Amino acid sequence: ALHDIGVVGMAVMGSNLALNMADHGYDVSVYNYTPDLTEQFLQERPHEKITGYFELKDFLASLKRPRKIMLMIMAGAPVDSMLDQLLPLLDTGDIIIDGGNSYFGDTRRRYDRCREDGIHFYGMGISGGETGARRGPAIMPGGNKETYPEIQPIYEAIAAKAADGKPCCTYIGEDGAGHYVKMVHNGIEYADMQLIAEAYLLLKYVGGYDNAAISKIFHEWNQGELKSFLIGIAADIFAEDDEAGGQVLDKIVDAAGQKGTGRWTSIESMKQGVDISMITAACNARVMSNALGRAKARTCIEMPALSHQHGDDFVEAVRQSLYAAKIVAYAQGFSLYKSASETYDWHLDYGAIASIFRAGCIIQAEFLTKITEAYDKNPDLDNLLFDDFFLAKINANQGALRQIIGLAIANGLPIPAFSAALQYLDAYSSPQVGANLIQALRDYFGAHTFQRVDKEGTFHHHWHEHYTK
Ligand code: 6PG
Repeated sequence: ALHDIGVVGMAVMGSNLALNMADHGYDVSVYNYTPDLTEQFLQERPHEKITGYFELKDFLASLKRPRKIMLMIMAGAPVDSMLDQLLPLLDTGDIIIDGGNSYFGDTRRRYDRCREDGIHFYGMGISGGETGARRGPAIMPGGNKETYPEIQPIYEAIAAKAADGKPCCTYIGEDGAGHYVKMVHNGIEYADMQLIAEAYLLLKYVGGYDNAAISKIFHEWNQGELKSFLIGIAADIFAEDDEAGGQVLDKIVDAAGQKGTGRWTSIESMKQGVDISMITAACNARVMSNALGRAKARTCIEMPALSHQHGDDFVEAVRQSLYAAKIVAYAQGFSLYKSASETYDWHLDYGAIASIFRAGCIIQAEFLTKITEAYDKNPDLDNLLFDDFFLAKINANQGALRQIIGLAIANGLPIPAFSAALQYLDAYSSPQVGANLIQALRDYFGAHTFQRVDKEGTFHHHWHEHYTK
């Protein structure tokens, strides 16, 4: 009998997704560009519903029509060369699903390329790492809406299930929409992680807490409104002892890596003209952790002496700051969704996006239900901050945020994401941001014109030199 779906790419994500599909009763064909990974997979993790193939044409011949071929290969050029191989062998109506972290612009291009051949191309964001792939990831499919029902049952079956039992998989929009939503998910992931790292620095250097105490604090936070996958695993990390003594965390070099999706989000926000300063701050924080001369800077730029602030009030202020700043990070990310949805005509459903982030993905959190509720109440919210629930939280917690940022600054602790959160709030709500002077300067040196508060129209002023040279 023919198989339901084929998976190309037997690395970590592909092999685990294939097993997940097989567990849900689907017959899966698998193929890898080099046969070694397929052989290893079939030997080490055999499954009665998985069949391996070593020739692309045999793999394709094993699939029910329309054929569903999922690519779990490295993003970038490998996807294009796989399309070069696949397209001549496929028939009208066949479906290709790219489940990698592809750049959404590439997905838009590939969608058009495939459509010329009558092939439906889906760009699918998948979050949750290895465990997610095996046990249930969050899934963000983008592509042709009409044929989506062909693949919907498989992906809803293998997706994580939220607390209400709903699958964390929903059709996102045309062409690159799924990969776009995944890209911004990763940007938010960067901001979330940076906030956690900054809270850690505050607790460690201003609070004077050791890893064991910080682990307990995070564990406690994870029982309340901050409850999330990342806070939970952070609590675990602080508690992890090293064989050589102390904790593993203190043995890890203080320089962060990145694969680029956070940076894409930041670059894209600049193109859209949307301020996602916290995500950008998180990208820059990783960059600065690797900055040339960092070791030298430590020896010659003078830092203030640390003054400790022990106590429950301080810890609670850090917690409140983290919550307030997290709200701003999501408000920024969702503002980018809103702008992109208009630019690319995707009709994104923000509430549905938040709801599929509730389980399976890296940023999964209680908190996301509140975002869904906010957009259910008002799908056209200009900014998440205007929702009653979030507004009340921001107003209740911003005092703590100011206090904590003040302490960090006085102690010389770098807290770029916390600071960006507050700067965003202040820029957004301040009665004057100085843009009138920017406009005057632009008009003075370049006749760029300005609007007036008291009259309609566009004005250019003849500015005088009041001070003679
Ligand atoms: C996920 C993760 C996943 C991966 C990122 C990490 O949602 O499952 O986001 O996609 O862990 O590639 O990105 P960096 O290497 O850039 O931190």
